[in-house]
Amino acid sequence: MSTTPKTLIAGNWKMYKTEAEAVELASGLAASLHGNLSADREVLLLPPFTALKAVAETILGRDKMLLGGQNFYPSSEGAFTGEIAPFMLADAGCTHALAGHSERRHVLKESDRFIAQKTAFGLQFGLHMILCIGETLDQRTHGSVENVLKGQLRLGLAEVNKDEVTPEHLSIAYEPVWAIGTGKVAQNEDIIAAHDFIRKTLVDFFPHCGSNLRILYGGSVKADNAGTILRLDNVNGVLVGGASLQVESFAAIATAA
Ligand code: PGA
Repeated sequence: MSTTPKTLIAGNWKMYKTEAEAVELASGLAASLHGNLSADREVLLLPPFTALKAVAETILGRDKMLLGGQNFYPSSEGAFTGEIAPFMLADAGCTHALAGHSERRHVLKESDRFIAQKTAFGLQFGLHMILCIGETLDQRTHGSVENVLKGQLRLGLAEVNKDEVTPEHLSIAYEPVWAIGTGKVAQNEDIIAAHDFIRKTLVDFFPHCGSNLRILYGGSVKADNAGTILRLDNVNGVLVGGASLQVESFAAIATAA
């Protein structure tokens, strides 16, 4: 019987920070969190590729500090100009990676099929995959939140070997697109309803472990709302963008009671 892993506080640095700035942020965080992070939490940093190695040298080996890649190409190696392979992420110290982030879906036009390939490839490689899903404002206004979430879960997980899915290797992040980088946080009732629906869907897909897969919330999580969000039912962590770029705000989120 699987158990739910630690609450995950993930910082997605997107396309921000030079190597020197990344090291400054990572070392500031490590110092600030040292001895202050509760036993049931872990922190994941997702810097840009160019800073991975330097951040790894700064944080790896520290208690409950993890490193992840924001993206990769689902192939072991090859002629894919501009892309990076899972083994290169692992070589830089990464144990985790994202797939399906809304900026990759909507700005980079990644398809559900491609996201499914990445999710399956990353899992097979041994990375802990965080599959991001979420509706646009238009989809919410038209009452199709559940359809969208179910569709993105079904398609995004279509290629994974279901029996091999475990809470140690797969998390889901619910990130309503309209709440990302906008300062608009979903209402608590909306987060509870979406996470409850995702939980039921996961239990349906993965009877052996669906009740223990982590479901993170993301979208304008800040120091002043993190505590409330982290206490909601079926919220097993947060994926933070903007507020993960400063030591004070991210450390406050990571330690929010
Ligand atoms: P935000 O980004 O916290 O800046 O809204 C969240 C994300 O993109 O994961």
